[in-house]
Amino acid sequence: MTEKLQVKHDGQTPDSPALTFRGFQGETDYPLILSILIESTRADRIVETASLDDIRRWCAPSTRFDPFQNLLFAVVHNPDGEPTVIGFSRFSWYTGRKDTRLYFQTSYLLPGWRGRGFWPAMVQQTERRLREIADSHTFNPRCFFQAWATETQEVWISVLEGEGYQVVRHFNNMLHRLSDIPDRALPAGLQIHPVRAEHKRAIWEAQREVHHELFETVSENWTEERFEAWLANPSHTPHLWQVAWDGDQVAGMVLNRIDEAENRARKRKRGYTEHIFVRRPWRRRGLAGTLLARSLRLLKHQGMEEAELGVDSENDSGAHDFYLRMGYQTFSTDLWLRKPMDMNPGPA
Ligand SMILES: CC(C)(COP(=O)(O)OP(=O)(O)OC[C@H]1O[C@@H](n2cnc3c(N)ncnc32)[C@H](O)[C@@H]1OP(=O)(O)O)[C@@H](O)C(=O)NCCC(=O)NCCS
Repeated sequence: MTEKLQVKHDGQTPDSPALTFRGFQGETDYPLILSILIESTRADRIVETASLDDIRRWCAPSTRFDPFQNLLFAVVHNPDGEPTVIGFSRFSWYTGRKDTRLYFQTSYLLPGWRGRGFWPAMVQQTERRLREIADSHTFNPRCFFQAWATETQEVWISVLEGEGYQVVRHFNNMLHRLSDIPDRALPAGLQIHPVRAEHKRAIWEAQREVHHELFETVSENWTEERFEAWLANPSHTPHLWQVAWDGDQVAGMVLNRIDEAENRARKRKRGYTEHIFVRRPWRRRGLAGTLLARSLRLLKHQGMEEAELGVDSENDSGAHDFYLRMGYQTFSTDLWLRKPMDMNPGPA
């Protein structure tokens, strides 16, 4: 299906071609998506790039994503009528914490087509689609449009701000160089032992319990039906997990991960210290510090040279400053932008 839209936006030159939209046409679109993504992220000084496999995974159908429904390609036509895809948007929705429903979009536009009103038009068209999805939902709590940006995506950020989005959170991506790892003792009465299959249910339940406290959570991922999918998650490396127990109760965890393929492709030795959670009764006794120090030592022992984590800089538990004190340093910042959904959707 092709939808035609006359772009009416400041900054567009009078001779700009009309913008139309088309949907996903199947696997043949993968190389196109990849090339737009690469050119777009390069223009935004984003170092990490994607592969065709990443695109295949990104476009795979899942519970709330169907590539034939949730991808929009922006197309212009040259004077002979020849179509050129200049960008695309990917969109879907989820429920965050406190019954906040987020209708989100990510969008990429080739650098040569920026600043001419096309990107705002793409955002508006995607918002129309998101409104249709929201209208089909029987229960709508507090609804927001949401988008993300890395701080170097200056044009994308200004487009979103021009459309009424506001930055609501900053997420810092941090690295530890695995030197000067602090020494911390395990609080009395707690044990850490290797994770076995029969421990996983308790670990999942503890993770689910703490997840609801986070600013960024996807409630749909923590329903009972999702447990099997969590168990089968191919990125899990339980031999690296550090889980502290108080008898048969999980007290806290750091779920460490090494992605060998990614390290090979990016020519680096990086591990991830992720899912750093301590359940409320065991907090403020030094447990997170101990689990993290052990994790850093473990990753170093595995031959890694650095450890990454991501944190909401306004985390309610003071986690951001704690990571700084542990020796992590921020290497990039992502922005969360939102706009209440009841705002004027813009001209059609
Ligand atoms: C963040 C969290 C893991 C800390 O666990 P913890 O076992 O209580 O932490 P520790 O006792 O080891 O203390 C860690 C540091 O945080 C500080 N801290 C702990 N709770 C804090 C709070 N509510 N506010 C401010 N600082 C706090 C401590 O002073 C300590 O600093 P120090 O080691 O430099 O002295 C825990 O609060 C938690 O699970 N929070 C919810 C989930 C979450 O936000 N996880 C982080 C996701 S990135």
